[in-house]
Amino acid sequence: MKAFIADRYRKNEPLRFDEMPEPVLGQGDVLVEIHAAGVNPLDAKIRDGAFKAFIPYRPPFILGHDVAGTVVALGSNVRRFKLGDEVYARPRDGRIGTFAERIAIDQEDLALKPGTISMEEAASIPLVGLTAWQALVERAGLEKGQKILIHAGSGGVGTIAIQLAKHLGATVATTTSTANVDLVKRLGADIVIDYRSQEFDKLLSGYDVVLNSLDGTTLRKSLEVLKPGGKLISISGPPDPDFAKAQGMNWLLRQVMRLLSLGIRRRAAARGVHYSFLFMRANGNQLGQITALIDKGIIRPVVERIFPFDDTNEALALVETGRAKGKVVVKLR
Ligand SMILES: NC(=O)c1ccc[n+]([C@@H]2O[C@H](COP(=O)([O-])OP(=O)(O)OC[C@H]3O[C@@H](n4cnc5c(N)ncnc54)[C@H](OP(=O)(O)O)[C@@H]3O)[C@@H](O)[C@H]2O)c1
Repeated sequence: MKAFIADRYRKNEPLRFDEMPEPVLGQGDVLVEIHAAGVNPLDAKIRDGAFKAFIPYRPPFILGHDVAGTVVALGSNVRRFKLGDEVYARPRDGRIGTFAERIAIDQEDLALKPGTISMEEAASIPLVGLTAWQALVERAGLEKGQKILIHAGSGGVGTIAIQLAKHLGATVATTTSTANVDLVKRLGADIVIDYRSQEFDKLLSGYDVVLNSLDGTTLRKSLEVLKPGGKLISISGPPDPDFAKAQGMNWLLRQVMRLLSLGIRRRAAARGVHYSFLFMRANGNQLGQITALIDKGIIRPVVERIFPFDDTNEALALVETGRAKGKVVVKLR
């Protein structure tokens, strides 16, 4: 089958478009004929080798973390899906590879695709939808009446997190640039901070939760916004000891993670705030709950651009600019 392949870990190296062997189907796996694949900053980071210490892939490997498609074969233990089902997923770490014609996915990672949206829209959802769910529902326990600041509201994660936070009944503030103010307002943001002319840490206070996906300066300033007992959740680092433990890292890596996050954890503790790093994981059950929210019209995908499969490298380059509005998707059929 045709696929986009990383031949080695190297920054900005274009993926090779070539033939790869057909996926091997395990007993609990579903073989998915791929219709569309979402593109994420994580794809570039994996290719660059940024995560190879704890998510090692042996080159050559197929890149791609988001998929929507049709079930074309079933492992002998699969009970939850049938041939012809339209599905979507963020396959688990170690088993990625959605920039390809087919992929074998563990049934636990898979959910039925929302019926009300296209394959391309569906492919834009799993990684960012699960990130938003795991940050807001699981980690923050966000409740009606609480206040949340979501950084980068116009990005892949931000566009979904704003809608989910509004559904949970929170007041939502977000940061974005002038060109995207209308977009985040349409998605439901109550307070929009234009980071080109305003400083969020001077304007906001008494927040229960901040979802950070930006740099270390933004992370530190975010502490100013939180009330005592508030939660600072970062998906862009630095990683913390709980994350190292959950990943089963060795002693040395655990010490590295402890040191990397020592500064922000100390600053947070001094203000009575809790800092944690979140690294999203595959979860078909949670994705099924997101399907329901999409089919009820509560969450809408935001797709900036759909590229033909042949142009996967161009799609990845657009994501790497850090300026995408919502998601970038490649379409196979
Ligand atoms: N740990 C995890 O599990 C996890 C999961 C998902 C994503 N992530 C990470 O989280 C980050 C965001 O992911 P994403 O998919 O949302 O990225 P993305 O879609 O590429 O984000 C692009 C958006 O970020 C906005 N942006 C850039 N700089 C900004 C700033 N200073 N203030 C406010 N907005 C800004 C841009 O808006 P403007 O053009 O208006 O600036 C653009 O709309 C990435 O680093 C990604 O790797 C981590």
